[in-house]
Amino acid sequence: MSESTGGADRFTCGRMVRATGAQTIGNIKVPLSPICLGTWIFGEGNAVERRKKTLEVMNFAISNGINMIDTAPLYGQGFSEEVLGEFLKNKKREDIIVATKLGLSKEDSGWVSNLKKERMYQELDESRKRLSTDYIDLYQVHYPDPSVPIASIAETMYGFYQKGMIKAIGVSNFNLSQIKKFMKYSPLHALQNQFHMFNRGMEDRIGPFCFKNSIAVISYAPLNVGLLTGKFFLKDIPLSLETAQRINAVELTEPRFSINKTCLFRLNNISKKYEKSLAQLVINWTFSQKGIASCIVGMRDIDQAEENLKSMGWSISEEDMEEIGRILEERERKIKLSPVRRMVKKITSLMKGI
Ligand SMILES: NC(=O)c1ccc[n+]([C@@H]2O[C@H](COP(=O)([O-])OP(=O)(O)OC[C@H]3O[C@@H](n4cnc5c(N)ncnc54)[C@H](OP(=O)(O)O)[C@@H]3O)[C@@H](O)[C@H]2O)c1
Repeated sequence: MSESTGGADRFTCGRMVRATGAQTIGNIKVPLSPICLGTWIFGEGNAVERRKKTLEVMNFAISNGINMIDTAPLYGQGFSEEVLGEFLKNKKREDIIVATKLGLSKEDSGWVSNLKKERMYQELDESRKRLSTDYIDLYQVHYPDPSVPIASIAETMYGFYQKGMIKAIGVSNFNLSQIKKFMKYSPLHALQNQFHMFNRGMEDRIGPFCFKNSIAVISYAPLNVGLLTGKFFLKDIPLSLETAQRINAVELTEPRFSINKTCLFRLNNISKKYEKSLAQLVINWTFSQKGIASCIVGMRDIDQAEENLKSMGWSISEEDMEEIGRILEERERKIKLSPVRRMVKKITSLMKGI
C-alpha cells in the first residue's frame, strides 16, 4: 500500500514486496503464507458436524500451502480454538503458525472488551489450554478496550513476549493513533485489520506507517464475507441467514447493488483471462498489495478451500493491476456521487443528447 490512492505505483511496489519473499515476524521462524485460514465461520452450527468440517478444512489447507491459522476465543466461545488444538496434536507444531486473540467475549449484553492485566494472563492460559500448546505464535489484541490504558495493554503483551509465552505481538482493529501509542510501550510485529477491494481505508496512512515500521499487515475478510466472490451479484445465489448477519447489507442494496454488480462483472472478465475465478483474483490482488504479509480467508468447506487456495502461485500482470485499480476507483467515484449530483449529471448528459 502506498500513500497514493491509485495508479501504478501502489501495484508495482506491491509486487516488488512480494517478490522479495514472504515475511517472518517476531520470533516466528517460518515466513507467513500469503493466505491464512480464518476460523470464525467454524463457530457456527451443529457441534459434531462443525468439528468434522473444521478438521477437514484445516487438514486440506495445511496440506496445500497454508501455514497459518487464525482463531479467537470469541469464535464459537472457545470451540474454534479447541478444534485447532485437536488438529495440532497430530502435526509438527513448529510448522504451523497459530494466531489467536484476546480481550473480547460475547455476553448476553453483546460483545464485551476486557483487557485488564489479570484477565489478559487468565485468557492466555485458557487459550493455551484449549489449543494444547505451550506458546502462541501470534497473539493479538482483538479490539482496543477503552476502559484500559493502551500503555498497560502493551506492557502486558510485551511481558508475554519476553517470557516466551508468545512469539509475536499483534493488535487488531486499531487506528493509527492507538498503534503509535502501543509502540511506545512494546514492540509491535503485526496488525490485523479489515482490508479488501471495497474497503481500502488503510492505504492512506496506516499501511504506509506499518510498512515503514516493519509491522506486518494481515488483512481480514478479503472476500468481504463472500460479497467479492460475486455470488450474490453475478450468480443470484441466495444469501443464507448466518451470512446475512455478518455481511454489510448496504452493498446489496441499491444504488450500491448495481454499482457493485458492474464492478464485479468487469473484474470477473479479468479473472477469466487467467482461467481463475473471481474469488481467486480478489484474494491474489489482496495479498499482492504493498505491505500485506498475509490475508485471512474464511472457507466454509473443502470446495471453497480448494478454490481459494488456487489464488496462490500465480500473479496478476502489471497492466491488469492497473486496470483493476481503475475499476475500483470508478466504483468509489460512483458511490461518492450524491443522488442530487447523479441526477444533475444525468440531466446534463440527456441535454447533451438532445
Ligand atoms: N480481527 C477481527 O476483528 C476479525 C474480524 C472478522 C474476521 N476476522 C478473521 O478473518 C477471517 C475471514 O473473515 P470472514 O470469514 O468474515 O470473511 P471472508 O474471508 O471475506 O469471507 C469468507 C466467506 O466468504 C464465502 N466464501 C469463501 N470462499 C468462497 C468461495 N470460494 N466461493 C463462494 N463463497 C466463498 C463464505 O461464505 P458462506 O459462509 O456464506 O459460504 C465464507 O464464510 C475470519 O475467519 C477471522 O479469522 C477477524
